[in-house]
Amino acid sequence: MAGPAFRAAAVRVRVPATSANLGPGFDALGLSLGLYDDVVVRVAESGLHIDIAGEGADTLPRDESHLLVRSLRTAFDALGGQPRGLEIVCANRIPHGRGLGSSSAAICAGIVAARAVATGGPERLDDAALLELATEIEGHPDNVAACLFGGFTLAWTETGAARAIRMEPAPGLVPVVFVPGKPVLTEAARGLLPRTVPHVDAATNAGRAALLVEALTRRPELLLPATEDRLHQEYRASAMADSVELVARLRAEGVPAVISGAGPTVLALTEDGSVAKAERIAQAAGAGWAANRLALDLSGAVVLPLGGNGSDPDPHTRAEQAHHRSGQGQ
Ligand SMILES: Nc1ncnc2c1ncn2[C@@H]1O[C@H](COP(=O)(O)OP(=O)(O)O)[C@@H](O)[C@H]1O
Ligand SMILES: [Mg+2]
Repeated sequence: MAGPAFRAAAVRVRVPATSANLGPGFDALGLSLGLYDDVVVRVAESGLHIDIAGEGADTLPRDESHLLVRSLRTAFDALGGQPRGLEIVCANRIPHGRGLGSSSAAICAGIVAARAVATGGPERLDDAALLELATEIEGHPDNVAACLFGGFTLAWTETGAARAIRMEPAPGLVPVVFVPGKPVLTEAARGLLPRTVPHVDAATNAGRAALLVEALTRRPELLLPATEDRLHQEYRASAMADSVELVARLRAEGVPAVISGAGPTVLALTEDGSVAKAERIAQAAGAGWAANRLALDLSGAVVLPLGGNGSDPDPHTRAEQAHHRSGQGQ
């Protein structure tokens, strides 16, 4: 197949924050959250120009080592060829190194944008291929599945290939995140996990993870037992003592709470009536926890029209009502 031609027009991609693990669903379950990074990509005559506003504006590289650029390059290779030049504008809102999937968001933004600027992109790279590419770059499929497809996702690897299904989260769910000021990089948090665990802990987690699928989709009243984890959270306590303690405090008061991804953000899966309660408990915990109440994101990564007409949603606050991918599976 000859290499792709590229559209002259810019494309705008919006990608959600995601929370992986959700307690017992280590490296498998993911939830897509209504907090977004926006990226505009335009194919240019030559060179690489990157503009960054918001999170990471002072720290991220502006060259080929930028994670979004590496992801664009990987996807262009998969599409059959690189464009001559690239202009990229990033508006970042997802905090970095907090367990809210900023690395996945950057990766998914890159591969979705690459597919959108290449003519015939979706024929050359279908959604299953996108998931595979994103998983290769990220190293695990849980966040990227939620980021690409939205809603509540279950990802796994089968004969070497990443797979995922998307489920509809129960509509009354209100995710509340407590984001600490300091990052913990995912690689560091992964290093704290033991090589083996007691059989009873593995068995408990398997049961709770199965229960969590029912609780998150249909019976939120079961979320407290369904979010119990024995495989990773306690082992990471030395890297995020305040977070593990806040999870324990919230759970002791009946609020289903977990470490978000590799931490240190704490995610409470509240329902409308218990948001205030979660906020009160966090305030009492005294480590300066600020609650951020988020919408569920049901769409995942989307290519949006450029410009400010009425069909261009406010990416920061909008909760997606309609989604276009129910029953997604690769
Ligand atoms: N929008 C972005 N653009 C470029 N690189 C990013 C972006 N977001 C995250 N990254 C990279 O990913 C790192 C954080 O990834 P990680 O440790 O997995 O934490 P997180 O839980 O936020 O995904 C950042 O330090 C940065 O190198
Ligand atoms: Mg990450």
